[in-house]
Amino acid sequence: MKAVAHDAKSMGLPLPAIPLPRSEADSSRYTDEEILAEARRLQEAIQQNQRWPISACLSIAPLTLEINRLKKENDVFLIAHTYQTPDIIYGVADEVADSYTLSKAARDAPQQTILFSSVRFMAETAKIVSPDKTVIHPSPEAGCSLSDGITAQDVRDLREQYPGVPVACYINTTAAVKAECDVSVTSSNYLRICERLPGERLIFVPDRFMGAHLQKALEGKKEVIVFDGECEVHAVFTGDKVRKWKKEIGSELSVLAHPECGADVLEEADYVGSSEKLIQEALRLGSENRPDVMLITECGTAERVLAESDNELNLYGACVMCRHMKATQLEDILQALRNPREDQIIEIEPEIIELAQRNLDEMFRLAE
Ligand code: 13P
Ligand code: SF4
Repeated sequence: MKAVAHDAKSMGLPLPAIPLPRSEADSSRYTDEEILAEARRLQEAIQQNQRWPISACLSIAPLTLEINRLKKENDVFLIAHTYQTPDIIYGVADEVADSYTLSKAARDAPQQTILFSSVRFMAETAKIVSPDKTVIHPSPEAGCSLSDGITAQDVRDLREQYPGVPVACYINTTAAVKAECDVSVTSSNYLRICERLPGERLIFVPDRFMGAHLQKALEGKKEVIVFDGECEVHAVFTGDKVRKWKKEIGSELSVLAHPECGADVLEEADYVGSSEKLIQEALRLGSENRPDVMLITECGTAERVLAESDNELNLYGACVMCRHMKATQLEDILQALRNPREDQIIEIEPEIIELAQRNLDEMFRLAE
């Protein structure tokens, strides 16, 4: 029996609408049999036959076939973050994971060209770790409220205010901000890395919620000075809402939350982890016959659990959609592969790359 999605009764937030092509895809290169086989492959992988009927899969199949053909022809490695839509994840991506694993995948990919389907800071990170590769980002306008909420000057000001204090930045920052910080951290390693930094004080930017989590975890060991940014998606959840859902759904419910949520939400959670770790935990609970699971995070996480679970799992969909992550559609990927515009090719000044690379090397060293 497979996973089933439920709306949280009090919130009623459904999964986002499925991303049908904006106009009819050109299918002239493929036979009807090839398109039908591809549509069936997509439907089988996505595992949501009602939301993704065969008619929808048939309309996107020419796009996935053409993207996969071009990727092969041009030796392109296509990386997608978990919050991308299932047609991208299961249709065309070579690697799907959380931001830490994707940074390593970008660093280690043998291909000379990477297409990064996600928000801008992740594509920039790929360019920093692989400066000699061509990194294509199909949606240059796809930002992030965290990375857009802090500038390199903000970090310089903090350094002036707190001389000699190490600065750790969440990976959700621009290359220019990374260049000003000592080390990046991600949702899968922020506790481990910050604990290992020298000294009794630490500046953490830009996520105030993750910063508060750090303050609590490092209490008595380190003072953590926190910047004032937040993720517009995870900020929507509150401890009150989670307590209400828990009461409605019952005591068997396991609440899994992303560390970009506020402290009151994390207090209610049974498990806190990166997007990838939340998926693994949900799958583990399913395999242990503990089927009632609520994911307090972006909706892409629930969509992957729905696709990848082999066990009975009642997923309570308290998810919120990230408009930036969902800005990219298959058509944008196809256009960027065929003929990328100048603004779709990541370019970063060499001095910024050099400094930001030092920052990310330090992350890889301290995370392992
Ligand atoms: P993960 O590293 O957990 O995938 O998080 C990235 C992100 O932007 C979450 O909002
Ligand atoms: Fe940024 Fe939040 Fe969207 Fe992640 S979910 S990309 S942190 S706005």
